[in-house]
Amino acid sequence: MSEYLLEMTDISKSFPGVKALDNACLRLRPGTVHALMGENGAGKSTLMKCLFGVYTRDSGTILYEGEPLNVHNTHDALVRGIAMVQQELQPIPDRSIAENIYCGKYPVKKYLGMKFVDHKKMNEDTQALLDRLNMPFDAKQKLGTLSASQMQLVEIAKAVSNNAKVVIMDEPTSSLSLKEVDTLFDIIRTLRDQGCGIIYISHKMQEILEISDEVTIMRDGQYIGTWPASELSTDDIITKMVGRELTDLYPPKISSPGEVAFEVTDYTSIDPKSFKDVSFSVREGEILGVGGLVGAQRTELMEAIFGLRSHTTGEIKLHGKTIKIASPTDAISNGIALLTEDRRGSGIFGVLSVEDNISVASLRDYLKFRAFLDEKALAELTEENIGKLSIKTPSTKTQIQNLSGGNQQKVIVSRWLAKDPDILIMDEPTRGIDVGAKYEIYCIIRDLAREGKSIIMVSSEMGELIGVADRIMVMCDGRVSGFVSGDDMNQEKIMELAVSFM
Ligand SMILES: Nc1ncnc2c1ncn2[C@@H]1O[C@H](COP(=O)(O)OP(=O)(O)OP(=O)(O)O)[C@@H](O)[C@H]1O
Ligand SMILES: [Mg+2]
Repeated sequence: MSEYLLEMTDISKSFPGVKALDNACLRLRPGTVHALMGENGAGKSTLMKCLFGVYTRDSGTILYEGEPLNVHNTHDALVRGIAMVQQELQPIPDRSIAENIYCGKYPVKKYLGMKFVDHKKMNEDTQALLDRLNMPFDAKQKLGTLSASQMQLVEIAKAVSNNAKVVIMDEPTSSLSLKEVDTLFDIIRTLRDQGCGIIYISHKMQEILEISDEVTIMRDGQYIGTWPASELSTDDIITKMVGRELTDLYPPKISSPGEVAFEVTDYTSIDPKSFKDVSFSVREGEILGVGGLVGAQRTELMEAIFGLRSHTTGEIKLHGKTIKIASPTDAISNGIALLTEDRRGSGIFGVLSVEDNISVASLRDYLKFRAFLDEKALAELTEENIGKLSIKTPSTKTQIQNLSGGNQQKVIVSRWLAKDPDILIMDEPTRGIDVGAKYEIYCIIRDLAREGKSIIMVSSEMGELIGVADRIMVMCDGRVSGFVSGDDMNQEKIMELAVSFM
């Protein structure tokens, strides 16, 4: 019997125009957490989808418990004990948590010779599972009432509910709070101690080093190698991922902020549980970071400023003049842009091309004779952005849903850069983006500041806030708990403010 639970050898897979996997390999031991790492578009999700039966590999072998494995769909995979929490979730918001977890495998009861879904059993089993995993939800609650991070926990419960022997987690923590990450890590350790093999994909280095036993690194669809996590430092991982040494994680902070450009006073939501009395200002050429824990209402605040939430009181001034923002159209016409946190829900147009997704917010700027779209200029705009952010796509016409998760995020970043806004609000701009591309995004943000634009950057990554922002506003429980700048911009100070009203 092999020492491995799973051996994937020389797996290749092509899509039109891309060789996503080129002899990729992965060997997973039972009772271990195995991190799978690589830059955006390296092929991590594709490799896992070949295992989970979403894609069929072109060539290569998979041995599972010593036997060749051939699954043709995700149902086969689940039956064989392989479960996956996918990077792009597909929740059914109108259905209960229980129905989402049991989707496709409802328990049935027979009555008068007919089959019915056994709702009672389904709800009871789900509740038992949620309780066992320390998830504070009601099985009958509609999934749509949960936040993005809570839905992600439900997705994890769903994977665990299958008593799987291999559990694949593709960026499970991208929208989880610190406490939820702890819950998840407890679940992972429990699964591991039960002999499960866990394949864990993440761009967060700290997490990888904390939770994993072994690390496999991929680059351009190829296998680079596997190492015990204890033998790797963050720098080693980065070097192996990008194939060269990255000396700086952040561009130098050269800035000389000018006049106050944007001012928010006493912004208060009508919802008492949301933000209240928020006042801040941003200067021309300044990058204002916004820190706080998940749930601090930062996203809600930014959406309200952008006109997406109308039940708000307070005042906004642009270059000293009061402006009224009742809808995103008002915001955009005042030169304000918002890069949203939730790319699947409100960011991407999946079936449209990369070009359409980049240009959609600036089409009006590309009219010829005010009537016809200047196709040539749009094509140039797209090419320029693909180059600038190194977006990995076979062509400008590729549907964005076929890009890797991180590359979709880069497209959204490009969309708002193309708009050339004066005030750019970015909510978690580098979520799911690899280290190399993060650096490129930081450089672009810094360049925009140097051109005199004002940037508001919401981020849950402390290092990113400290490394990129000129000044940081920290929020806790819907209120501003303080501002830090200069020598005060350190982890302890920010954490202290982030929990100050709790
Ligand atoms: N359904 C598809 N159709 C066409 N191309 C695809 C499809 N799925 C993935 N690709 C391409 O395969 C390559 C690998 O993508 P994959 O999603 O596996 O990357 P990844 O390592 O998971 O990246 P990320 O960290 O950004 O999630 C990319 O170039 C991507 O554009
Ligand atoms: Mg991926």
